[in-house]
Amino acid sequence: MRYLVFAANWKMNIGPLEARYYLRSFLDAGPLPAGREVWFFPPAVSLEAVAQSIKSREQLLVGAQDIYWEPKGPYTGAISGPLASQAGARAVLVGHSERRHVFGETDEQTGKKMAAASAADLQPVLCVGETLEQREAGQTLAVVTRQLEAAFAGRPRSGRVTVAYEPVWAIGTGRNATPRDAAEVHTAIRAWMGAHKVGETRVLYGGSVNLKNAAELLAEPEIDGVLVGGASLDPHTWAELVRTGAT
Ligand code: PGA
Repeated sequence: MRYLVFAANWKMNIGPLEARYYLRSFLDAGPLPAGREVWFFPPAVSLEAVAQSIKSREQLLVGAQDIYWEPKGPYTGAISGPLASQAGARAVLVGHSERRHVFGETDEQTGKKMAAASAADLQPVLCVGETLEQREAGQTLAVVTRQLEAAFAGRPRSGRVTVAYEPVWAIGTGRNATPRDAAEVHTAIRAWMGAHKVGETRVLYGGSVNLKNAAELLAEPEIDGVLVGGASLDPHTWAELVRTGAT
């Protein structure tokens, strides 16, 4: 059976109260097709509400959108791996393009967050991807490789790892990579991960995935799932999207 992951990145949307309503509508749509998992990445304040709403459903998981690398201390506004885990998180996004490009997160910091994720037993979802300028300059694979190297430098090479390829120019823009473009980068990511013995790897695609284009992307065997922002904010749309192509 083919296993697929559908990850919802709510970004700075859906507070705890809304999250409970959201999950009620989402769960009302019925059981998920076999072989599919749905991962929710709510804002930190909603982690616990989501964790409580989905508990004991093994195809569902909740994760944090970001963590700071120190486990605790005087870091106003930040949350650590252990704090996210206490709120119910089992995974964490690391190096999302908005962290890198809006908040100025460096490759080195992304590496520290990967280490912090394993220390807190959170499954990392490492986000990588090139800007439009880099793509046009033919640097896509070089950029993605540099991001992988920084993220996995010195990390214990084991466990389950998920990488999300999200071209920066495709996020929230309505433009997305063709399944073929994405597959080429996914193949390169898998090859790098294999050569560096990083562990069992899943590669998701993200960037303007929606109800219209999900089927075509998921038909590509290199794509193990999708990371979705905008189209995951409505529970009905999301419930439909996670059933894409299911028979
Ligand atoms: P988008 O966001 O689906 O709204 O383009 C994807 C993401 O940033 O993870």
